[in-house]
Amino acid sequence: MNLPSHVKVVEVGPRDGLQNEKRAVSLEAKIAFIETLAEAGLPVVEAGAFVSPKWVPQMADSDAVFQRIQRLPNTRYPALVPNLKGLERALAVGVTDIALFTAASETFCQRNMNMTIEESLQGFQSILPTARQAHCWVRVYVSTAFVCPYEGKVSPDAVMRVVSRILEWGVDEISIGDTIGAAVPTDVEPLTLRLLDAMPANQLAYHFHDTRGTALANTLCALQMGVSIFDSSAGGLGGCPFAPGAAGNLATESLLYMLHGMGIETGVDVSKVAEASRQLQSQL
Ligand code: HMG
Ligand code: MG
Repeated sequence: MNLPSHVKVVEVGPRDGLQNEKRAVSLEAKIAFIETLAEAGLPVVEAGAFVSPKWVPQMADSDAVFQRIQRLPNTRYPALVPNLKGLERALAVGVTDIALFTAASETFCQRNMNMTIEESLQGFQSILPTARQAHCWVRVYVSTAFVCPYEGKVSPDAVMRVVSRILEWGVDEISIGDTIGAAVPTDVEPLTLRLLDAMPANQLAYHFHDTRGTALANTLCALQMGVSIFDSSAGGLGGCPFAPGAAGNLATESLLYMLHGMGIETGVDVSKVAEASRQLQSQL
């Protein structure tokens, strides 16, 4: 097998996981969750979202989260930002790493952001100059890259149309989302071929949800093709309130188990990640 020797695991549990929980998680528990995940050695811990609190009330306390977390020097703590107002809120509490988002299917984009894909891309053009001035590290999510909960199958052409626009702006990383966890490896292979033709492997991430148990199989397919950045959430938390049927992300513990078992290093202590999941469980 042709495999990378190192994988960067991007922990999204505190954002993608907690945005979907019906029970409110206390600020203290969120902070403890984020800090334990960073202590586990995860290089990136997505810690909140500066989205509309009316749309996603679970993320309404992201300002307080960022004000209070103790940051480790070598860990990135990105925040999801939907518009300039979100960026301003993020910068006001010391955020240095941001994640923008759009989608490859029109209906999901509108349900999730109340914007067309084109409007979301134009929105990036208003956010990016300010983000650059503030020296932010910028990641962009492209959701529904395989299947849309409203439109069905999404073609690699539709994904590439969005990705090629994003590449024009020279962002740091693009994360391709299987938002409702419906992809299988034979979907991942043709899209990955197109993506790697258009961009460097060290800027490409996959974000697999595990609704139907295919996330690890999809990860293995992408790994063998040279992808080395994967998003996951501790304890398999997650979903998206605007994607009916979306279950949790690939669990970080399962991803680490597979990677370490295959001799791929991540720098992450899996037992510490499990401790973070257990601590949080008492809140849910
Ligand atoms: P809108 O309602 O169309 O926006 O929302 P608007 O500009 O008309 O503003 C309406 C109100 O919201 C106004 O307040 C604004 O001030 C306020 P009012 O005057 O009514 O009192 N507002 C804000 N407040 C705080 N922070 C802000 C903000 N922006 C406006 N940033 C908007 C448009 C994009 C804001 C909204 O649709 C939104 O927040 N969407 C985000 C939804 C979301 O968070 N979805 C989940 C994350 S995406 C995901 O999970 C997928 C991913 O995991 C990858 C994958 O799995 O594929 C990333
Ligand atoms: Mg997601």
